[in-house]
Parts: sequence; structure tokens; C-alpha cells
Amino acid sequence: MTPSIDELAAFCKKKGFVFKTAEIFGGLQGFYDYGPMGVELKNNVKKAFWNDFVTKNEFVVGIDGAIITNPQVWVASEHAEKFSDIMAKCSSCGFNVRVDTLIEDVTGKNVEGESLKEIGKIVKKEKIVCPKCKGILEEPNEFKLMFETNIGPEKNEKSTGYLRPETAQLIFAAFKNVYQTSRVKLPFGIAQVGKAFRNEISPRNFLFRLREFEQFEIEFFTNPEKLNDCPMYDGKAKVNIADKNSFKTVTVDSLLKKKVFASKWHAYWVTAFFNWFVKYGVKEKNLRLQPHSKDQLAHYANACVDIEYKFPFGWKELHGDADRGQFDLGQHQKVSKESLEVFDESVSKKVLPFVAAEPSQGIERALLVLLFDAYFDDKKRGNVVLKLNPLISPLKVAVLPLVKKDGLAEYAKEIFQNLQKRFNAFYDAGGSIGRRYARQDELGTPYCITVDYDSMKDKTVTVRDRDSTKQIRINVDELNTKIWEMIYLGKKFE
Ligand code: GAP
Repeated sequence: MTPSIDELAAFCKKKGFVFKTAEIFGGLQGFYDYGPMGVELKNNVKKAFWNDFVTKNEFVVGIDGAIITNPQVWVASEHAEKFSDIMAKCSSCGFNVRVDTLIEDVTGKNVEGESLKEIGKIVKKEKIVCPKCKGILEEPNEFKLMFETNIGPEKNEKSTGYLRPETAQLIFAAFKNVYQTSRVKLPFGIAQVGKAFRNEISPRNFLFRLREFEQFEIEFFTNPEKLNDCPMYDGKAKVNIADKNSFKTVTVDSLLKKKVFASKWHAYWVTAFFNWFVKYGVKEKNLRLQPHSKDQLAHYANACVDIEYKFPFGWKELHGDADRGQFDLGQHQKVSKESLEVFDESVSKKVLPFVAAEPSQGIERALLVLLFDAYFDDKKRGNVVLKLNPLISPLKVAVLPLVKKDGLAEYAKEIFQNLQKRFNAFYDAGGSIGRRYARQDELGTPYCITVDYDSMKDKTVTVRDRDSTKQIRINVDELNTKIWEMIYLGKKFE
């Protein structure tokens, strides 16, 4: 059974993955701290995104932009003026509530992109009330989501800065430097992973809606006339597309024909992320694509497709990918007065690159779905088994001496120190062997190595597989290589 979001949060706290920030002071809504296991898992997930979509992708390079940048960036992107959500105050208890998500929770209707006036009408028509005290909601208004800060010692209009609300705009702001220094040519992508901050009205559902989170984003630039020149496009591949409360499985070609995807490059990037989640252990039946309808589309987007996951609180956005056309570079060019056109050798002319796809992934939402689908409450074993893909498991291997005496602990320590040169390994000599296995199962450690009396004689150890509990005997000299091959080459446990 999938745990509820509260059960998962309790598990994460108990096992040292994630907990409320500064809990001894009562925490702070929308902010979390990562413990020893959480920081390893999160780093591994970011590394997996980066390896698969940047290091191993000949079309993509990376940057690491500033969190606080020149405020003109947010003028160009229109965040300074328009980045807001619709909020209403309860006339009885004074609670401030984000109205679009409340309407969706109550009626099931997605009202993303609706105007303030329209939202106000829906609140009245659907008799939407305060979720806390059932009081009447006041007239909705717009609430700005940008976190403001002051740059330098002076405090005036010019010294106001913002914590970035997304990583994407830093890519546009750095576009010219990257283009001039990296020998990239169209088509190419620029990626970034890092923190983003939004002063969300109602942070909730553990890591789902936060005020401080991380994003992995790619802006993929093409010649506007070459949106379909995508060598990796696979039209025969199958994906799940939303169908009322469920989904149907269809070919990528059929979605391109129906203009769900704006182009072959757009289709390629959406399906690449869908498949990434499946590769890392998310069940296909829990994933579906959700296209934005024409009235939900942001004014700059030609098309937008979300990847949704079936969370315990409903199908919700895990990932977004919009075809943003020339809007962003056009805006940055206009406000900075710097030309952002590039010379496209293939057509021998200058063009303003076109963003055919903007894969945008929240790291915390990725963590949530990877944890949900890895979580298995094994009643037979009497403990949770976190069946994470070994590539992202916080620990790769644990070394456990059967007993501490007769030199077993010392020999096990030697084996551990050897493994530690290559892997994130853990040494545990405390408690019954069953309890120690259970501890590692709960952390998602794929392999446990037990050092026993035979090990002292024949230099072999028992390796236990987390998912099957099968055990095999391996020579100590081969241990490093065999574990490495199983984790990184996917070799069979035998
Ligand atoms: N550059 C486009 C962009 O930022 P978005 O739909 O606002 O688009 C993209 O965000 C992704 O970032 C979402 O699909 C989600 O994974 C993550 N995300 C957005 N807001 C979030 C929040 N408040 N807490 C956690 N993750 C969030």
C-alpha cells in the first residue's frame, strides 16, 4: 500500500531524510532541512538528472547562475510585474487562502490561468468557503510571490533585489556568454540545477508545495524553422495521456498529430523525462501527461505539457514543459538592448533562437515520487523496504560483522574502509543481524555484506540483496568490482 503524504513525512523524519527546518524553534512553514540520508539522496537525484540530460547529452551544456541577480532580469521576464497567485482572506478567522487550488480541491476544476474577476465569480457560484472555519471569503486579490531583499547598505528603490523564483531566467540572462564561450550551435540546450524561492500563500503536502525548493531546468534552443529536426524523436514510443480521472496509453506520433506537442523537439523532451522517471523506479501507471488547454496556457507559451503523478492527494503536476517560442530571449533583448541573435550556419543567417522546450523539474517533487514508489511496507519482514534504484540510494553498501569478537569486527572494518574508497558505505556492528538488515532496508541500501567466521578462513563474505533477501558468497578481492558492476552496469545479482 502506498503511504499517505503524512506517513511518508513521518518516515522521512524518523530515518533522517527530511524534517522541518529548525524544529526546536517550531519549524517554518514551507521550509525543510535535509538530514544525512536526505542530503545523499537529493544529491544523487540531482546528479542523475545532470548525468543523463547534460553530461551524456551532446546537445546540452550547464550553468550555475546567481540566486540574486540584476532586478532587470525580472522586469524582462515579467515576473516583477506579474508573478502572483490569487488569494482571499476569510472574513471570520482571517486565514489567507490560495483560491485556485482551493477551487480545484473542492470542485475538481482546474482554473489555472483564469482572471482575478473570473475566479471571484467562481468562488461565489460554487459557494467556496474558508477551508479552516467555513467562513465567507472576502473578494480575492493578487498576491506577489517574489521574495524581496535589500542589496547593499542603502535602502531605496534601486537597492531592492529578489531571490530567484525559478532557475530558467538565469539561463536567458547568461545566454550570450554561454553562446560566445562554449562553441555551441543550434540546436542546443542550457541546463541549470539550483534553489528557487516563492512566497507561496499555502505551502502544503510536505515537499510538494514549498517556499524554498530546487529546480532542474533546461532551455532548449532551436532555429524557429527547424523545430522538427530532432534526431532522437521516436514517434512509435508509447506514453500515458490524461483521460478524465485516469489515462490511456498512446503513441508519441498520435499526440504530435493532435498538436499536444508543439514540435518533435517538444515531444522528445517531454517523453525523455517521462522515461527518466520510469528508469529510476516510478511505476508507469502512476504517470501521465496533462496538456494545458488553450485558456490555461501562459500568454508566451505555444504549448505546455505537464507530467502528472498520482499522488495520494490526486493527480498533480510533477514536471512542466512549455514551448516558449522567442518570448524570453525577445524580452531580454528588448530590456537589455543587447542583441541575442546568433548565426545559424545551417541556413547562413542570423536568427533569434526559439525555445522549443523548457523541461522544468522540481527536485523535491522528484524526490517525493521516487520515495512513494520505492516505499514497500513488507509485512513478512516486519519493516519498510525502500526499493530505490541503487544509483540514487543514499548508501550503496553496509558492512556488518556477525559478532564483534574474535577479530571479526576488525576484519569487517578493513573491508568497509576499502569499499569506502569507492562507495558511500556504512559500518554497523550494533544489534542483532536481523535488526541491522532491517535498518539498511529502510534506508534503501541495496547490498549488505556480512563478515562471519568463514570469512576469516577463506576470505569470502555474504552479500545480501535488499529486494529479494537472496544471499551469495563473494571473494573479498572481487567485492569492490562486483558491487560496482551491479550498481553502475546493472549486472545481475549472482
Ligand atoms: N520555468 C518554469 C517554471 O518554473 P513552474 O510550473 O512554475 O514552471 C516548474 O515550476 C516545476 O517546479 C513544477 O513542475 C514543480 O516540479 C516545481 N515547483 C514549482 N513550484 C513549486 C513549489 N512551490 N514547491 C515545490 N516545487 C515546485
